[in-house]
Amino acid sequence: MASFLMLSMFLLVTTILGTSAGNFDDDFVITWGHGRGKILDNGQPLTREKFCLSPFYSHFQTKPMASFKSLISLLTLLTPLAISSLIFASAGNFNQEFEITWGDGRAKILNNGELLILSLDIVSGSAFESKNEYLFGKIDMQIKLVPGNSAGTVTAYYLSSKGSAWDEIDFEFLGNLTGDPYILHTNVFSQGKGNREQKFYLWFDPTADFHTYSILWNPHCIIFSVDGTPIREFKNLESIGVPFPKHQPMRIHSSLWNADDWATRGGLIKTDWSSAPFTASYRNFTADNACVWSSNGESSCKSSPSQSNAWLSEELDSIRKKRLSWVQNNYMIYNYCTDGKRFPQGFPVECKS
Ligand SMILES: *[C@@H]1O[C@H](CO)[C@@H](O)[C@H](O)[C@H]1NC(C)=O
Ligand SMILES: *[C@@H]1O[C@H](CO)[C@@H](O)[C@H](O)[C@H]1NC(C)=O
Repeated sequence: MASFLMLSMFLLVTTILGTSAGNFDDDFVITWGHGRGKILDNGQPLTREKFCLSPFYSHFQTKPMASFKSLISLLTLLTPLAISSLIFASAGNFNQEFEITWGDGRAKILNNGELLILSLDIVSGSAFESKNEYLFGKIDMQIKLVPGNSAGTVTAYYLSSKGSAWDEIDFEFLGNLTGDPYILHTNVFSQGKGNREQKFYLWFDPTADFHTYSILWNPHCIIFSVDGTPIREFKNLESIGVPFPKHQPMRIHSSLWNADDWATRGGLIKTDWSSAPFTASYRNFTADNACVWSSNGESSCKSSPSQSNAWLSEELDSIRKKRLSWVQNNYMIYNYCTDGKRFPQGFPVECKS
């Protein structure tokens, strides 16, 4: 009887583990990379095959009614796992939310959908995109960029719609030699027209740990943030004739690819393939506040309880404006709005306001 009870508890725990852990395989699809994209378990590469063969699973499958003692040890093993899975439950699951679109197995969703890895080698890069299309949203992703000698590599993370008059909101991370700074390149396209680059150094090493890169996109503005600090604001200036992305739903995209013809010191430093494969990791995707577009042309907005619909009209307050100035004064290395040589006929209208 006691062992039966323990077994039921064990089953309950594994059920909790299974449903709450969330799965990169449900939210995300690796779309590119010939196995270079990987989903990891506690930092260890963990394929679906390995997971099924991992000791406690095969043990459970082959000896479900094993001795009372071994059930207790299984429970001891699983309880902390179940608890840690519950803590992560609010993050989106890569298996459910994303699809791998490029890379022949180089992109992988690991750790039950909690982690996604893109990789790049001399043959190919890799990429994924969201299953959902969004028309406005507050979207956070934690990314850990290619470490070591990443010169020549580009990790792009962006929202984009389709067609020739597409809209796009871009983060691109340009790699560098070990110890030299990454460049974070940003751009906004509306109706197929970009040319709105702003580039930054970061105030931390983006390869040492995960950091949160966020896009707030609502009808009033687009705000790019890094770990909650705004680095760029693109306001809706339709009133003075600047098109603003607000009609075309966008998917989230990310890719890791070779761009050594331009990325590092303008293409001077080439990719060192002896350091390949290069990998970038993703976790904790959050889009609790977002409007998801559906194929019937309707958009359904959801908001986290603490936010209600405030995010849809959110703009920078004075405190966040000060943070933005701090970044722009200290870390911005290029701004199209101050590049006189590029616009001999005069700056784009949005630069003047
Ligand atoms: C790489 O490092 C060099 C030297 O510090 C710097 O000039 C450059 O902006 C850095 N980033 C890229 C992507 O080239
Ligand atoms: C996951 O992301 C959310 C939203 O950005 C954040 O509040 C939470 O702290 C993150 N969790 C971890 C473990 O970093």
